[in-house]
Amino acid sequence: MAYSDKVIDHYENPRNVGSFEKGDQSVGTGMVGAPACGDVMKLQIKVSDNGIIEDAKFKTYGCGSAIASSSLITEWVKGKSLDEALAIKNSAIAEELALPPVKIHCSILAEDAIKAAVADYRKKHNE
Ligand code: FES
Ligand code: FES
Repeated sequence: MAYSDKVIDHYENPRNVGSFEKGDQSVGTGMVGAPACGDVMKLQIKVSDNGIIEDAKFKTYGCGSAIASSSLITEWVKGKSLDEALAIKNSAIAEELALPPVKIHCSILAEDAIKAAVADYRKKHNE
């Protein structure tokens, strides 16, 4: 299957790969797996005191589309509030990357990972 140019760009030059220091209370971590293929995505957000996502990082063990989806969503969430980040739909990722139907679940993984990261942050802060 041919990957779109945007997938290839994010796959070859992934943005925001890595992770934040353990124990950082301003970080929320989401770890999700795709039952369809076994790929795993870890996504972290670093939240400022006024509730804005100031940085994001990811590690993805998976296909090119999953790596591109996580790279893209880490770019998109920066500067957003938690609620704005929760509003990002996988369909927007799939559209931006021109994912074919069999790769839609890769973008769902990214949406689920952000949701899990926000939930983790909120749990840490008793929100
Ligand atoms: Fe092979 Fe996702 S199915 S990496
Ligand atoms: Fe399963 Fe991409 S995440 S094939």
